[in-house]
Amino acid sequence: MQTKQKTIVLVGFMGVGKTTIGRELGKRTLLPFADSDDLIEQQTKMSVQDIFATKGEAAFRALEEELVIAQLRDNKTHILALGGGAFMNANIRTACLQEATTVYLKMDWELWQKRSRKLKRSRPLLKTNTPAQIQQLFTERDKIYRLANETIVTNHLTVNEIIKQILAN
Ligand code: S3P
Repeated sequence: MQTKQKTIVLVGFMGVGKTTIGRELGKRTLLPFADSDDLIEQQTKMSVQDIFATKGEAAFRALEEELVIAQLRDNKTHILALGGGAFMNANIRTACLQEATTVYLKMDWELWQKRSRKLKRSRPLLKTNTPAQIQQLFTERDKIYRLANETIVTNHLTVNEIIKQILAN
């Protein structure tokens, strides 16, 4: 008997390509793709930046917890890309580890730094923190992301190569 394909959750720091990989993985597996920031934006009809600016980060995190857990407890197999902070929430983490195969897309700091310049406009945390604080966040979060079921070091891999690795495991 073939076992049911599990939901795949992608975690990792802002701008490592979770959404790009998730969307492409959805196409290849024919599983529906969802992105937690999109779910929040659809529900609130506001952009992530506007939620941070007008309601604050705590309100964003509460919405993130509610919507991600609902998405994971929904019995339909799918691909889910999480916003970079979502996996820091213990309830989200437990739901991911219970309901899905969770994959950490890991990038080295030096490479991430080079690629991240264009992210500043759309990521509130990159605007409000100093480079040193961002590096600290990067290091602290790495320890938590590693609790995922699998880690893929994506540094110089192509989208195709990353997807192959995810599907091989
Ligand atoms: C965040 C990452 C963002 C978004 C929000 C907060 C974070 O998503 O959820 O700006 O705390 O790392 P991406 O990881 O898709 O950039």
